[in-house]
Amino acid sequence: MPQGFYDEGKTMSVKTIFYSYSGITRGIAEKIQEACGGDLVEVKTVKPYSKISAYSMGCYRAMKGECDSIEPASIDVSASDIIVIGTPVWAFRATPAINGAVEALTGCGGKTAVLFATCGGMAKDTLPLLAEALAAKDVRIAGEYVFDKNDVQDRDKTDALIAAVKSAEGSDEEP
Ligand SMILES: Cc1cc2nc3c(=O)[nH]c(=O)nc-3n(C[C@H](O)[C@H](O)[C@H](O)COP(=O)(O)O)c2cc1C
Repeated sequence: MPQGFYDEGKTMSVKTIFYSYSGITRGIAEKIQEACGGDLVEVKTVKPYSKISAYSMGCYRAMKGECDSIEPASIDVSASDIIVIGTPVWAFRATPAINGAVEALTGCGGKTAVLFATCGGMAKDTLPLLAEALAAKDVRIAGEYVFDKNDVQDRDKTDALIAAVKSAEGSDEEP
């Protein structure tokens, strides 16, 4: 398993953090890790959602921008150059699990992130709002990618996301 990718004499390390309820977001996260190396961190909710609670409580919490309690409870990215964050869209927003992951980030100040979301076809403000939450933690956003249900099979679209990860420059060299 490669530890990272090589960019102008420097090995860049990537941490890909995702939540996936039914496996689609996981599939893309795995392709990123295959191409870029680094760690894959699957966020799980401490209290799992059933189909009914996902559409009721989960969507309500997503709309409100609430954070679920997650495992792992803390995600240290201080050793990573680039963070990738992937979420399904719930009620036109990021999932409460991924909101919890943003809250759980440590060592993220000055880092660069690439965001992606998977959805049925309507992501609306999912990624701009996620970007705002990350900006509040001093994370720079280098790209935002939305995959609808047709895009998830589109190799060109996944390749564009991978290229964005590879060209995102880690920006925490300054103290
Ligand atoms: C509770 C719930 C809410 C959803 N809300 C939306 C939505 O607002 N817009 C949309 O386009 N798709 C919505 N979807 C579809 C998912 O975003 C889409 O199927 C996604 O790719 C699933 O990713 P996953 O398999 O990683 O969980 C919703 C799915 C669930 C389960």
